[in-house]
Amino acid sequence: KENPNAPLYNLNNQAARLYNMLLTSTELGQKAQAYLEKRGITAEIIKAFNLGLAPEEQDFIYQNLSSKFDEAVMAKSGLFRYSNNRTFDAFSNRIMFPVTNEYGHVVAFSGRKWQENDESRGKYINTQATEIYDKSFELFHLDKAKPTISKSKEVYLMEGPMDVIAAYKAGIFNVVATMGTALTEKHVRRLKKLAKKYILLYDGDNAGQNAIYKALDLLGQKQTEIVRIPEGMDPDEYAKSYSYEALAKLMTEGRIQPLEFLMDYQRPANLNNLQSQLDFLEEMTAEIVKLPSITSQDLYIRKLVELLPDFDYQQVEQAVNLRRENN
Ligand code: UTP
Ligand code: MN
Ligand code: MN
Ligand code: MN
Ligand code: MN
Repeated sequence: KENPNAPLYNLNNQAARLYNMLLTSTELGQKAQAYLEKRGITAEIIKAFNLGLAPEEQDFIYQNLSSKFDEAVMAKSGLFRYSNNRTFDAFSNRIMFPVTNEYGHVVAFSGRKWQENDESRGKYINTQATEIYDKSFELFHLDKAKPTISKSKEVYLMEGPMDVIAAYKAGIFNVVATMGTALTEKHVRRLKKLAKKYILLYDGDNAGQNAIYKALDLLGQKQTEIVRIPEGMDPDEYAKSYSYEALAKLMTEGRIQPLEFLMDYQRPANLNNLQSQLDFLEEMTAEIVKLPSITSQDLYIRKLVELLPDFDYQQVEQAVNLRRENN
């Protein structure tokens, strides 16, 4: 029996082919490729990620595919928008990143602005939710990442497709992205089936740090590690500024434990007065006692002592012991 969603998969697939053709075989596509080249995206990457270009025409995809698909299928695909009794493409003049589901079917697109004079809204726009696309469920690159996730039992989480591509160029394939949207319970449930360890590589800005904090809660601290990207950078920019080898090294050797992240993230800006030190001590001892071994607890007691001007090792250790007894 045919999958009832087959026409939707088929439509997305054909759209992806058209977008790819426009990027690889047109004059405008040459210009878009020059932009991509500057960002480290070569012909090989265009092929591997099936990248494309939505043209400047406002209804090119519609004109090309409307004879092949039912209007009802087109209407619920998320690929078109309707205004003044006319149908337009949802994406025009954008670099197109196809989003595939676990089985490799194209289910959605993310489109990035690339021309300097483009004043349209949103650096990226994404396909809205459809019958085959739930953004709180899909993870960019999961289909391709699956074999290496299953083998290593580890998965890296990043924010966007450019970051996943940077990791790919660095030779690391067990990487998925949430496409800027928040990590959800649904994402986590899927990842738990494949991996035992989650490594967060979110952007080195406030949004990224807040996202790490929230993700730690969903994923569980024991199973999670963090790679902090320097302030103002993301994994793609890190590779661009240093090298892809440096990104690979950071991803494998630069991992820190959640508590090291939390000690920095939750640390108040001002630790000079006694009350703020006590509050912070309270928060951190609650985390330290959860650590599985006395040696790791001791390590974080020492780190904490360094941050608290008015407390010495014995006092912090005592606070931890007290917390342990009260638990
Ligand atoms: P970022 O804001 O970090 O993208 O959003 P970026 O790194 O600046 O983009 P590039 O590298 O210049 O191309 C992270 C992700 O969030 C989603 C996209 O998936 C993006 O990759 N996003 C971002 C959106 O969906 N819409 C936006 O307007 C911005
Ligand atoms: Mn940005
Ligand atoms: Mn960001
Ligand atoms: Mn970014
Ligand atoms: Mn970026």
